[in-house]
Amino acid sequence: MTGDAVVEVSGDHPRQISSGHDASVDLSLVIPTYDEAPNITALLHHLHAVLDAEGISHEILVVDDDSPDRTWDVAAGLADEIPGLRVVRRLGGSGLATAVVCGWTHARGRLLGVIDGDGQHPPDVLPDLVAAMDDGADVAVASRHLPGGGVSGWSAARRLLSRGAQALGLLLLPGTVGRVTDPMSGYFVVRRDVVAGADLDPVGYKILIEVLARGEVERVVESPYTFLERAEGESKVAVRHYLGYLRHLMRLRIHPLRSRALVRYLLVTLAALLLDALVFVWLFDTRGWNLTRSAAIAGEAGILATVLLHDLWTFAGRAARSTTDRVRRLLGVQLALGVLLFGRLAVINGLVNWFHLGPMAAFLIALAAVMPVSHLLGSRLTWRGARS
Ligand code: GDD
Ligand code: MN
Repeated sequence: MTGDAVVEVSGDHPRQISSGHDASVDLSLVIPTYDEAPNITALLHHLHAVLDAEGISHEILVVDDDSPDRTWDVAAGLADEIPGLRVVRRLGGSGLATAVVCGWTHARGRLLGVIDGDGQHPPDVLPDLVAAMDDGADVAVASRHLPGGGVSGWSAARRLLSRGAQALGLLLLPGTVGRVTDPMSGYFVVRRDVVAGADLDPVGYKILIEVLARGEVERVVESPYTFLERAEGESKVAVRHYLGYLRHLMRLRIHPLRSRALVRYLLVTLAALLLDALVFVWLFDTRGWNLTRSAAIAGEAGILATVLLHDLWTFAGRAARSTTDRVRRLLGVQLALGVLLFGRLAVINGLVNWFHLGPMAAFLIALAAVMPVSHLLGSRLTWRGARS
């Protein structure tokens, strides 16, 4: 083991990436590893050969979470053969995404990259990513979901989980997750100044979402690749990673709203709920209109109040909108939430006619059940394409 090849850090390392870089290093490529001893040697030689052949000045940082199979030691043993190889042995830390951030805080290059340490991300795509960066991209992502890309060897269940996670991300963070075809990708390059100074605080595996959400990312370019089968060892993905992903999404969802916009967002939601209920009571109780008609008009009042108040107040600071854009979006939201409202009317009638619940109880249960989804959908459609 070459002593100076290994840097030992504790788990609570700094998370901020400096803006300065070493002009002699184009790309700093971080490889997060946990129990990759059988894979890391071939990968490091392959990476170095590909980058060298392309004349890309680089350093490779293996960030290992003190693997039981001593991946850090195997990698450090190659330091004499592979110029620019450094190993960070993280003691007491864990998690792919935080390992990448840790590696980037030690990096010297103007471009910061990440690739898996098990050989499932083909190194031959790297030159395409670096070329995209040299063409002015802020982030260049290797995507499995572009024509020419794909996944080999994943079970239907894993594919479904990955796509499900992506759909959930689109619902909660449309302006971030919707910017790429493969937001789950763990193989990409970002320009240092896009993330310098950002407080990267990811959870679990999804480092790309953290970069897209917290970095100053304007231009994203994607290149297709085929996710290869693992040669040795197995994936470390477990149920806790999916729960961590959900926590990550919620943290990023609340993050931009942490300012006064969050209070406004919640106030608008409450106001719409109240308006919805008051209009229903007035029409059904006071005016004696029938249940469905009262609930439909009340629901419509809630939808219009929500979208207009979000548009004019909650998200007022967002990019200016043309009138055409506002009308187009209003119609889109109306259509989507109208479908949900229809579902709500069906629930109300079902509760009254089949479960013999009182109309008011049925109305309130349906409102409570449908409202959160319609709000998420409402804000998603209201702000399609905006960063969030
Ligand atoms: N340092 C560190 N700490 N590395 C980790 C940890 C950890 O806690 N967990 C996993 N890794 C490393 C693995 O050693 C491997 O090099 C890489 O992160 C990916 O881990 P896998 O467990 O093999 O993930 P996967 O193959 O199921 O999914 C990968 O590819 C997907 C498609 O790009 C991950 O990168 C996913 O995030 C990605 O969506
Ligand atoms: Mn893997």
